[in-house]
Amino acid sequence: MTRYLTTPIYYVNDVPHLGTVYTTLVCDTLARFYRFLGEEVYFLTGTDEHGQKIEKAAEKAGIPPQNFVDGMAGRFSSTFDSLGIKANDFIRTTQPRHKKAVEALWNRLKENNQIYLGSYAGWYSIRDEAFYQEKELIDGKAPTGAEVEWVTEPSYFFKLSDWQQPLLEFYKKHPDFIQPHSRRQEVLRFVEGGLTDLSVSRTSFKWGIPVPGDPSHVIYVWLDALTNYMSSLGYPEQTEQLSKFWPQAVHVVGKDILRFHAVYWPAFLMAAGLPLPKKIFAHGWWTNEGAKMSKSLGNTIDPLELNETFGTDVIRYYVLREVPFGQDGDFSRSSLIQRLNSDLANSFGNLAQRVLSFIHKNCEAKVQPLTNLLDADQEFLQEIPKRFGLMKEFMENLAVHRYTEEFMAIVALANQYIDHQKPWSLKNTDPDRMKVVLSVLTEAIRQIVLIGQPILPNACHKILNFLKIDLQERSASNLSIPFSKEVVLLPPEPVFPRYQL
Ligand code: MSP
Repeated sequence: MTRYLTTPIYYVNDVPHLGTVYTTLVCDTLARFYRFLGEEVYFLTGTDEHGQKIEKAAEKAGIPPQNFVDGMAGRFSSTFDSLGIKANDFIRTTQPRHKKAVEALWNRLKENNQIYLGSYAGWYSIRDEAFYQEKELIDGKAPTGAEVEWVTEPSYFFKLSDWQQPLLEFYKKHPDFIQPHSRRQEVLRFVEGGLTDLSVSRTSFKWGIPVPGDPSHVIYVWLDALTNYMSSLGYPEQTEQLSKFWPQAVHVVGKDILRFHAVYWPAFLMAAGLPLPKKIFAHGWWTNEGAKMSKSLGNTIDPLELNETFGTDVIRYYVLREVPFGQDGDFSRSSLIQRLNSDLANSFGNLAQRVLSFIHKNCEAKVQPLTNLLDADQEFLQEIPKRFGLMKEFMENLAVHRYTEEFMAIVALANQYIDHQKPWSLKNTDPDRMKVVLSVLTEAIRQIVLIGQPILPNACHKILNFLKIDLQERSASNLSIPFSKEVVLLPPEPVFPRYQL
């Protein structure tokens, strides 16, 4: 099985904040999960570097646009590195390979008679890089609250209006194309309301890819940006990667940019005679302690600061667990600390620490293979693969929060097992049974940390090292292969110390 996961490419007018690294953290979790299953994964992220918004930001910084975007793209990629993101590619829209792909798509649309020259007179929002119809404005602003300006300029248009019916038919035939369902309804209503031709070039600024054959125009930044999902795979060349991964494309995006992905992008592709992606999933937005996060309010959350204080596993766990993926959420430092202390330190970390250090102290760090199991042991151990079956389905549906919840539910079961079996009492009353209980627990911990790797990669890596599990034995296929000989554990250390306020 092959998987292709994409995040939006980020505008480089602003530094990365929690809102902009969110999708990348979630997609990285999904990518790690699919790799864990042994699937072939291509996970793409990157930066969106053209357009009027970026040109203005560079001007304001007093730096030539190319130098400006080089610096900012570096900030995104180094932030992702610090957060332990393992993407297969980081695409930048100023790269020649991308430019070539956008020109090829443009030419194809032109050849298919889908683009014509006209003139645009209407509203444009630089912040959203979007055209709005008069009827969409609310109190003279874009529905997003962004300022709009009146633009009159020569422009090439894409015949979007031709694609209303084909789009509606496609959505009907592929009911899971747009998720979650409520968002799909919004898109359907928008398309049913009628589509007007879309302006796809601008002449009032220069920072973009010139229109082939008419360099007085630059290509509209969204037509440019959306093409990244194909240019990374080598389009317009018919590469092996393109044919292998493109049909599996799942675009994970924020709810604010769903229209571009679920309407314009499929229409461009249909018009170019190219296959469509498999799924578009729109997630919600984070507020900060109840308030909208914005550069102007100065209340955006710096992921690097959070990372220094808490570490990446904690950030990742918090964003995955706190909000059902798809819904809006509120970031609060106190709830992050609470999740760290109760879920990660007390429940998960403590499970590993108390079992492994007990073995160290009382069994010379030795664990015997599973033998002489009682019903209670079997029942407990059987629960893990049973629940993992469910967890796979959750990930198939991008319900990363449910995977995380179920993971913590297994951890809770293991803690209950300890409380019932009381190995510390068995030490005096029945040392042989104590050894069996400790083997069961070590085996459970092995499976738990294997399953936990996509959501808590660093902590699980450390615990797997304490258990001396080889790097080659850390995939889902190893879940059902318990220790076959005695293991001498390495000295454990707490993976999640409690955070003291
Ligand atoms: N460049 C376009 C995307 C082009 S994709 C072909 C863009 N960039 S962006 O930097 O403005 O936004 C990138 C993503 O960050 C969007 O999916 C947006 O929803 C997300 N978020 C920005 N702020 C956010 C929050 N406060 N919360 C959650 N996600 C947020 O749009």
